[in-house]
Amino acid sequence: MLVLFRKTPILGAFLAQVVALPVVAAVTAPLSTSVERLPLIAIALVLQGLIAAGITRALGLARWWLLIAFLFPLAMGSAFLIGNLPAWPFGLAFLALALVFSNTTRGRVPLYLTNRETASVLTDMMRDRGATRVLDLGCGLGGVVRALYGEGRRARGVENAPAVYLAARLLSVLTGKGEIRRGDLWKTDVSQEDIVYAFLSPAPMAALWQKLSTEMKPGSLFVSNSFAVPDIDPDEIWELSDSRKTRLFLYPIGAKD
Ligand SMILES: C[S@@+](CC[C@H](N)C(=O)[O-])C[C@H]1O[C@@H](n2cnc3c(N)ncnc32)[C@H](O)[C@@H]1O
Repeated sequence: MLVLFRKTPILGAFLAQVVALPVVAAVTAPLSTSVERLPLIAIALVLQGLIAAGITRALGLARWWLLIAFLFPLAMGSAFLIGNLPAWPFGLAFLALALVFSNTTRGRVPLYLTNRETASVLTDMMRDRGATRVLDLGCGLGGVVRALYGEGRRARGVENAPAVYLAARLLSVLTGKGEIRRGDLWKTDVSQEDIVYAFLSPAPMAALWQKLSTEMKPGSLFVSNSFAVPDIDPDEIWELSDSRKTRLFLYPIGAKD
């Protein structure tokens, strides 16, 4: 059960609020005759946040969920208290967030981007290896794909967040650089690539290595930005001198396990 909540933390966060609710109601009900309405609501919201945060901790969720669990009731309560807020900005914000981040709840890979320095190092790496095909798994806005495309190199990217994919595709079409496809990285054919690049999160790395080590061709290379494959020694680790001190983990395919 705890594994489920660690894999899909939003379920744990939801459960924490639901469980906290009757506890807060039971604790604050006796106060309703003696405490003013506003202070009572404030007490209830803070209590709700504290209990929910405690539950998310007990469920083993990452530390930032504590903050979310604590702040969520306060934000909801404030919105209700202010009253008469127009609904459309919230709807619009929800839609925009869903189109960019809806895949994050399942895949646990949010959007952040490879910087120029890293893309330039990757270009040099391709030149040095004489690599002509590269695939960015979860290509975000497609910056890496566009940077690596050219001089006879074919660069492709796959992305499953709808709005992010659309932006990447548009930029690719407008610049005439690279190929962006909407799809799931887990279902993407990697067998023809010289280099597969990924900048994801710790969550998928073990399963990703399972896929890549069996499906990529011998002599090809998997490069992971920032996240190592657990229990597998990379052949090399490149530490870049960019501001975030990017580390690239290099895993040759067919070399060793
Ligand atoms: C950290 S970003 C990296 C973006 C890009 N590769 C870069 O380095 O600039 C990871 C991207 O992977 C995408 N992603 C996550 N899970 C995915 C999946 N199962 N299939 C395709 N894309 C996915 C996310 O939407 C996000 O845009």
